[in-house]
Amino acid sequence: MTPLIAPSVLASDFANLQAEVEMLNKSQADWLHIDIMDGRFVPNISFGFPVMEAIQRYAQKPMDVHLMIQEPELYIERFRAAGADTISVHIEACNHLHRTVQQIQATGAKAGVALNPHTSVQLLEDVIQDLDMVLLMSVNPGFGGQKFIHNTYRKIEALKDLIITRNSKAIIEIDGGVNQDNAPLLLEKGADVLVAGSFVFTSSDPLQTIADLKLSSK
Ligand code: DX5
Ligand code: ZN
Repeated sequence: MTPLIAPSVLASDFANLQAEVEMLNKSQADWLHIDIMDGRFVPNISFGFPVMEAIQRYAQKPMDVHLMIQEPELYIERFRAAGADTISVHIEACNHLHRTVQQIQATGAKAGVALNPHTSVQLLEDVIQDLDMVLLMSVNPGFGGQKFIHNTYRKIEALKDLIITRNSKAIIEIDGGVNQDNAPLLLEKGADVLVAGSFVFTSSDPLQTIADLKLSSK
């Protein structure tokens, strides 16, 4: 199966956001990955609704919103209104994860749950059947351009087992330090969606880099 590719807009040139989004429209990217950071859940602040609405104005592909924020349940409807097709919340930020997943799905968006590198996939045992996606962080969230954490491969295997055992429809997204070198093994282990930020936007030919990632085989 061909992977879905979700370039992270966080690594794009914010001073030329329209051009960057139009480049992604033309590319073989499947989704636009939108990283929202609140300076509380993670030690960094990215951008909020006005910028996301500006992206929405030009985006012709689904928006995959990754909320690295505390109390995400306060903002689900607003992110949906700002164009989110998939909304992922961190398990570490949710006291009532099942309720928040239902809240996301009630807006018509797909619900994802994101896990930090230290968080065991076994914690999803009792909610996996309700999820559309699991986002495994392969770096500690907060910044683009970090080094890929190898333990991710093992987590994908464990998550894949859990998904099969529980007969879940959830797909697996990998986020952080993804590049052409680790993509094939990530896909072989069971990843369905690859997020790539700096690898795409620091390359001399982002369109070609996205096309190459898309051709990575399982
Ligand atoms: C990190 C973000 C990632 C980031 C990926 O906190 O969730 O989506 O933008 O960037 P790279 O691909 O550069 O690691
Ligand atoms: Zn992300």
